[in-house]
Amino acid sequence: MQVVGKVSEKMGIDAYLVGGYVRDKLLNRPSKDIDILCVGNGIELAENVCREFKRCSGVTVFKKFGTAMLKTGDFELEFVGARKESYVRHSRKPKVEKGSLRDDLLRRDFTINALAVKIEEKGLGEWVDLFGGLEDLKHGWIRTPVDPAETFSDDPLRMLRAIRFATQLEFEIRDETFLGIQASSERIKIISTERITAELQKIMASDQPSRGFILLDKSHLLPHFLPEISALKGAEKKDGIGHKDNFYHTLEVLDRLAEKSDDIWLRWAALLHDVGKPKTKRFEKDHGWTFHGHEVVGARMVPRIFRRLKLPTGKEMKFVEKLVALHLRPISLTKEETSDSAVRRLLFDAGDHIEDLLLLCEADITSKNKEKVKRFLENYIRVRQRIKEVEERDRIRNWQPPITGDLIMETFGIKPSEKVGMIKESIKEAILDGEIPNDKKAAFELMIERGKALGLEPVDRVNKS
Ligand code: CTP
Repeated sequence: MQVVGKVSEKMGIDAYLVGGYVRDKLLNRPSKDIDILCVGNGIELAENVCREFKRCSGVTVFKKFGTAMLKTGDFELEFVGARKESYVRHSRKPKVEKGSLRDDLLRRDFTINALAVKIEEKGLGEWVDLFGGLEDLKHGWIRTPVDPAETFSDDPLRMLRAIRFATQLEFEIRDETFLGIQASSERIKIISTERITAELQKIMASDQPSRGFILLDKSHLLPHFLPEISALKGAEKKDGIGHKDNFYHTLEVLDRLAEKSDDIWLRWAALLHDVGKPKTKRFEKDHGWTFHGHEVVGARMVPRIFRRLKLPTGKEMKFVEKLVALHLRPISLTKEETSDSAVRRLLFDAGDHIEDLLLLCEADITSKNKEKVKRFLENYIRVRQRIKEVEERDRIRNWQPPITGDLIMETFGIKPSEKVGMIKESIKEAILDGEIPNDKKAAFELMIERGKALGLEPVDRVNKS
């Protein structure tokens, strides 16, 4: 920092540390992105600073935004000249009108992000705290420096940022600011999906993501990008029989899972595991509320949600889809009389994701009854043991059936057809059901038998006769 102080003093301009770096330093959170605000030309300052550093990546200038960036060591320094207009990084219509330090801080999002500290050659100098940011940091408060309507109209994404900071930092959004979010929530429509999703991912990665989703719901923002999660809300009653509120249940599952795993996609699977429930909800005279097939319907909804949010649609999406589809399967294995074949089938279907699936199932136990939770969790210890035994014996995880379609066609001298698929499938089923052992010889014999049953003859014999 001394380098920046030395250069700015030489240039006769004031430079300040601002924004997230200052906030995070005060909160003892690690941060590598350093924002430097100067009352003057930020680009020139960056260029002069770069010359002074022993290791400098060179300066990248964003002329349109009047900012310049350089890297030194692990740190990324972003320089900006104080401006009058809204500080909206990379917005589509940047207006860069020079302003004073006050003008600049006034247009930032929250008081805790509008702190500045002067950078001098001899070290850090005077603190600038125009809106009580230091006090708010101490209390854990999120508050806009000016009228919330103005702050959120400058950049509606800030509504989501408020909720993200509240979740990440475990802070409270002050009433006036929260009312401002509720009043402006419709404006989130003008924000690009990419920016929304980036904030959502940060909420998902927090220690207790439920905080964020409860705020997203209360602020009326949630239905704008995750209406399927909003639809989980509510607990209907009929003939005196109710069902649980699936929104709060889902959030409990998400938090329980977040305690066990940082894997963001496993967290998405937790968020979406019951997403098919509203569409499958029925009231049956004899059974009360049912959600038959919600895992299948839910899994089918995953791609639409991922595409809409521009989340990756490759292996990450497939993983979430798979976990949603399979999330009821391990429960059935907790029953005493579970057959080996059910275990083999689950291993075959879940493959390497079996452990993640079990974590999701364990998180899904949200009963208020502690005894029940304990018993259910113990059941899963037994399931893990069963899985281990079956896996050691039968090696089904990531297994490929030993008979390929090519081998079937070659053996019977036939072209691709329905029969090839039928034979292949029946061999796979026989192995999973334990009718034949998981080895090539037994599978080959069964292939001949099943082929014959379909009127086929192995090529050799046809030639001989
Ligand atoms: N800022 C703002 N409004 C925005 C985005 C940013 O006022 N929509 C200001 C805030 O003063 C913020 C600073 O720009 O502290 C830097 O923004 P950014 O790097 O996006 O966020 P950080 O606050 O550093 O936090 P994080 O890195 O966790 O996103």
